Amino acid sequence: MEIPSRQQQAQQALRHAWFPVARSVDLDIPQPATLLGENLVVYRTPEGRAVVQSRRCPHRGGDLSQGRVMQDGITCPYHGWRFRAADGACAVVPSLPNDQQHKIPERAVVRTYPVVERFEHVWTVLEEPAHSMYDPADFRDMDLETAAAAAIPAPIGVAAAMENFRDVAHFAFVHTVSMGQLPEVIEPLKVRREGLNINMDRFFKAGEGDWSVNGDCTMQYRCTAPGFASVIFDHGILGNRVLAIFPSPHTYDSVTLFCVVGVERGWSGTPLADCIEFEEMVTHEDVGVVGRIDPPEVPWDNEVTEVSVPADAYTLNYRAAFWQFVRRTQEVSTTNAGAAPKQKIVSGSTMSQMPPE
Ligand code: FES
Ligand SMILES: [Fe+2]
Repeated sequence: MEIPSRQQQAQQALRHAWFPVARSVDLDIPQPATLLGENLVVYRTPEGRAVVQSRRCPHRGGDLSQGRVMQDGITCPYHGWRFRAADGACAVVPSLPNDQQHKIPERAVVRTYPVVERFEHVWTVLEEPAHSMYDPADFRDMDLETAAAAAIPAPIGVAAAMENFRDVAHFAFVHTVSMGQLPEVIEPLKVRREGLNINMDRFFKAGEGDWSVNGDCTMQYRCTAPGFASVIFDHGILGNRVLAIFPSPHTYDSVTLFCVVGVERGWSGTPLADCIEFEEMVTHEDVGVVGRIDPPEVPWDNEVTEVSVPADAYTLNYRAAFWQFVRRTQEVSTTNAGAAPKQKIVSGSTMSQMPPE
């Protein structure tokens, strides 16, 4: 039997992970979404429940995101077939007389996916989930006012996007406008990993840019592989603000960067709307550079050479966590499955390879 490449394993594993497919605020009308190549429709029923289903009508391929939401489901824009929100079964075929509705073919059904609505977004998972939906304790314990930032597309994979978000050595080069002049030297990072979770606390000395307007802070990085990364910014007497980013794979190597921004009750820094604007600015700066990396996703099969330094400690821990997640999704391990690719570290580091798991 042919052994799948690490990229193939990663691609398959992502089908078992929760990802956002729409912003809650956009569900006044049905929204098209694509997750790992699967075309989906996301809508909200009149009772307020978010629904994720296959977008293609099984009759003649109508696009259900052009359809109309009814009491019990969604109608196709082409011939009006109505599919139930609860299970995707076709409940009405208008071309059939009323006394013939029981003859609707059983195969007239659209696939219905699990849904969790959290962090101002609608989340789903394509296959049996290999982890519970993200629910970080920090977020649970905080009294937050939150809102979704703009959804921004980026031509990179999920892991590359996650690495970029938590990478601190690029601030001084990519974010000179939003954050201002920042130190280039990165102190030894205190990274802690427990299973799929990686934490790091770091002091941030504010620069002169708009993003830095709330001043110095401690940044508490929290990440869970494969797809949830957050920062709590502790600004002392101003209070706390938060940011979480969740790249959602349109395909294996292109994502939509969904993002929620929040401020804790009592926050006295810049208003939430400004915080959102600053974060969108930062993301656009990132996409301008990270959108051109080669290859567009982490080279899991060592198909290109990468060299790491101590400032990459969080990235390497994320990679180890990502592979722990991949292994979870695999029923049978193969000889090349599971081990994270080795990384060489240049001199000055005490790390010699991927951190132990
Ligand atoms: S294509 Fe959807 S009802 Fe005909
Ligand atoms: Fe960045």
